[in-house]
Amino acid sequence: MTVISDLTERLRESSAAHHLSRLLYFATLPLFALTSSSKSNIMRPTLISALCVTLVVGCIALGVSALHNHQKLLSLGIPTLDNPLQPNQIKSFVTFGDSYTDIVNVGDGPDAQAWPVYLSGYTKTTLYPFAKSGATCSNKLTYRPAPPVSESQLPSYFNFHTTDAGKNVGGKDTVYTLWIGTNDLGANALLTGNDPGVTVVDVAKCMVNWVKMLYDKGGARNFIVQNMIPLQHVILYSANSYYTWFWLKERNSTAWSVQMTEMVEAGNALTKLMLKDLASTLPGAHIAYFDSHSLFQDIYDHPGLYLNGTVPYNVTGCIRPCVFKQNDPKSGVCSIVNGPARDSYLWYDELHPSEQANRIVAREIAQVFQGKQSQWTTWLS
Ligand SMILES: *[C@@H]1O[C@H](CO)[C@@H](O)[C@H](O)[C@H]1NC(C)=O
Ligand SMILES: *[C@@H]1O[C@H](CO)[C@@H](O)[C@H](O)[C@H]1NC(C)=O
Ligand SMILES: *[C@@H]1O[C@H](CO)[C@@H](O)[C@H](O)[C@H]1NC(C)=O
Repeated sequence: MTVISDLTERLRESSAAHHLSRLLYFATLPLFALTSSSKSNIMRPTLISALCVTLVVGCIALGVSALHNHQKLLSLGIPTLDNPLQPNQIKSFVTFGDSYTDIVNVGDGPDAQAWPVYLSGYTKTTLYPFAKSGATCSNKLTYRPAPPVSESQLPSYFNFHTTDAGKNVGGKDTVYTLWIGTNDLGANALLTGNDPGVTVVDVAKCMVNWVKMLYDKGGARNFIVQNMIPLQHVILYSANSYYTWFWLKERNSTAWSVQMTEMVEAGNALTKLMLKDLASTLPGAHIAYFDSHSLFQDIYDHPGLYLNGTVPYNVTGCIRPCVFKQNDPKSGVCSIVNGPARDSYLWYDELHPSEQANRIVAREIAQVFQGKQSQWTTWLS
């Protein structure tokens, strides 16, 4: 993705330079004509036609060049819909999701900040946090003992929306975010077959329905759906795993990582298509698909572009590992990395991103809030 972004950037620059040099070239042509012909009245009609021809040719050249460039961008899979948000338009945002987004039971460590708090600081916007640690999209699909998006977080928001404090939240100057799926797909849910008959298709439908419900009942118009990260890279689901307090029973970690890769990619592709479909039925809505999957894969592949701690980059281990023996909940041997070394890590523990990863998520979504194009964001409406 970095390569693509660099290329896009270069395409933009080279095309701007190209346009400018063309403009200069064509703008100087009439001057030459003027100096060589100013002494003769007979030359005036020639001068005027020269000017006209110059303008027409110049415009055609610009058009062809722009079209050519546009096609180059399309073939790179770059979104064609522009960010509909204006700078300073967004005043508040409302978050839904799990421990990746919860700002109280934070996933990146008890003394660290979650991405929404960073985002609020970076963009000077008000945060209304509804995400809850341990959540799934729906407990009717994948039961986990935590407040799910559909049956708990959305009703809490709708209640808030009827209060004096909440009734003005929504509309043009508010963004609604959802980042969910880690618990739904994970151990004790789809991965381990705890929910017979339920698949990632049902979970994807549930995620997309979150948009519809907020549009219909919550006054929401701007949405950012953050897709699932490559969960096969978190230690819990990687092929080179160890027993953790998240899972102590025997399992085949190779099989887990293969299945996680499949479910996440399929689920992400489904939500993107379903959202695109839904978008056409919601007038006035703006839906962005934020590609956390590619962003985290890029951090994994090119840690030097993102991580900035004081020890060598580490995208396979974590800040706070706890290594257990199989089936023995008392066997945990934990350690912790402190201070500026932490920012060299992609993961906080065996399941959660680090604080530096959270800052990156916040930084990238801040771009979206500020009306800029972001390489991780596709606007579907
Ligand atoms: C674990 O799963 C992988 C991939 O499905 C398979 O190739 C391997 O044989 C399995 N290992 C064991 C010990 O069952
Ligand atoms: C990454 O961190 C883990 C601790 O979680 C450590 O065991 C491992 O050696 C580190 N890897 C590198 C490449 O530094
Ligand atoms: C790494 O960069 C972030 C900004 O993204 C900054 O807040 C943090 O202090 C930096 N960490 C170190 C160890 O310099």
